[in-house]
Amino acid sequence: MTLPAFVKIVEVSPRDGLQNEKNIVPTDIKIDFINQLSETGLSVIEATSFVSPKWIPQLADHTEVFKSIKKHQNISYPVLVPNLQGFNEALAAGVKEVAVFTTPSETFSKKNTNSTVQESLDNIKQVTDAAKKHHIPVRAYLSCVLGCPFEGDIAPKAVTDLAMTLLDFGCYEISLGDTIGVGTPGSTKKLLDVFLKKIPEKQTAVHFHDTYGQALVNIYVALEYGISVIDSSVAGIGGCPYAKGATGNVATEKVVYMLNGLGIKTGIDLNMLIKVSRFITQRLPKLSDQK
Ligand code: HMG
Ligand code: MG
Repeated sequence: MTLPAFVKIVEVSPRDGLQNEKNIVPTDIKIDFINQLSETGLSVIEATSFVSPKWIPQLADHTEVFKSIKKHQNISYPVLVPNLQGFNEALAAGVKEVAVFTTPSETFSKKNTNSTVQESLDNIKQVTDAAKKHHIPVRAYLSCVLGCPFEGDIAPKAVTDLAMTLLDFGCYEISLGDTIGVGTPGSTKKLLDVFLKKIPEKQTAVHFHDTYGQALVNIYVALEYGISVIDSSVAGIGGCPYAKGATGNVATEKVVYMLNGLGIKTGIDLNMLIKVSRFITQRLPKLSDQK
């Protein structure tokens, strides 16, 4: 099996990483953090989310963060939006790419966005329609694809059907989220065997959390299937506050270390990445201690 020669890392720590932090991280630290990430060779850094501040108070400073970060020409800084209101606010802040999200699990959908899966698709359709008018690329996340904390196993067909709908809406890529990190190489293979029959691997990304230490091996499986876009979070920070038991994302430095070992290029400087990882980990426990 030929592994991809180049992998694009989508760095999600400023959004997926910080959204799960209880203590509010000061805005200037978030800005400094993203500016440091921009120096590591990453080409995509998900900067924040324009969701309801009542639901995710940690990211209520989205507009200030987005406007204040130093934007590099060759780096994309997408933001997460749940609906048209979030999209419009993101657009007003100068955002050039957005990510939407839904899930095959009705219960998780309700807990995470107070909507049924169909209602979340209706919201996404409004976003993709508006995004087309403004020439804004839209990426889509599917959460809980390898298991849901409320509904248990998720059928690969349900994941695939939703992905087809999202591509029809105009999303350019589907990120498969193992939100609570329950996936194994076995379940990852079962999903990809079904999924990649309908969805091109070029439009597929993987987003693993590392609850049971399976993330890297699951990523290796995805690489074997030809997937070359990987979401990760420096220092392994992150999780979804509405997914019971969700722990951190796979750490970007671990992913880059593995890819370097496989001779797969990422364009990322591992030493610089480790410095940024130290920077954020040193600040997060300090903030917890102040509680
Ligand atoms: P709702 O309370 O049902 O909203 O929340 P509503 O439509 O009934 O409106 C109620 C109020 O919210 C109104 O304000 C709206 O203006 C406001 P009021 O009149 O009461 O003052 N509102 C908004 N405010 C700011 N920005 C918005 C917005 N929309 C409405 N965009 C809603 C529904 C979807 C907004 C809410 O449930 C929400 O924001 N959910 C997001 C939760 C979240 O961010 N979860 C984590 C991200 S997903 C994830 O982690 C998984 C992923 O990482 C992949 C993986 O790991 O697998 C992607
Ligand atoms: Mg995540």
